[in-house]
Amino acid sequence: MNETPGPHTARPRSTGATPTGTLSISRRRALAVIGSTVASIVLLDACGSAAVSAPGGWVRADVDPSGLIPDQPVPVRFAGTVGGATVAGSAWLVRRSAGDLVAFDPRCTHARCAYDWTDQASFACLCHKGFFRVDGSVISGPPPRPLDRFNVRETDGRVELQVPADFSTPRPAD
Ligand code: FES
Repeated sequence: MNETPGPHTARPRSTGATPTGTLSISRRRALAVIGSTVASIVLLDACGSAAVSAPGGWVRADVDPSGLIPDQPVPVRFAGTVGGATVAGSAWLVRRSAGDLVAFDPRCTHARCAYDWTDQASFACLCHKGFFRVDGSVISGPPPRPLDRFNVRETDGRVELQVPADFSTPRPAD
């Protein structure tokens, strides 16, 4: 005997699943999704929005921390070996009024240009007129996020920064 579903009989809804219960997705659609994801990652990196870096290591900064004046950033140089690679560069070091140390990555978060501390008590990146406060937050301009930081530690008069093995120097501001 044939059973015909009545008006109150629930029919299974189509879910797009194949008869075996696995989801079906065309190869073309899968490639389109992968392609757009890769493009997004590349675009984010080009904009400086993706702070992806190699694992870091501790290197010594060339500074006497006893001479730091609160909220007066100073450029410090660092050099050392991280993950078998020699890294050298600079960072902006700030003794905050609460006493803690903050170290800023010297590369602007917009397009990785070098920036400077100004007599208007702000960091200025002249590549595209990006400005940051002493705490690294954005005042104005195109930077998409605050200045990136390096971990910093101070022991026995030594300052050490945790920098990525693939650290690259900032682009010069034209
Ligand atoms: S690199 Fe564009 S504002 Fe700094």
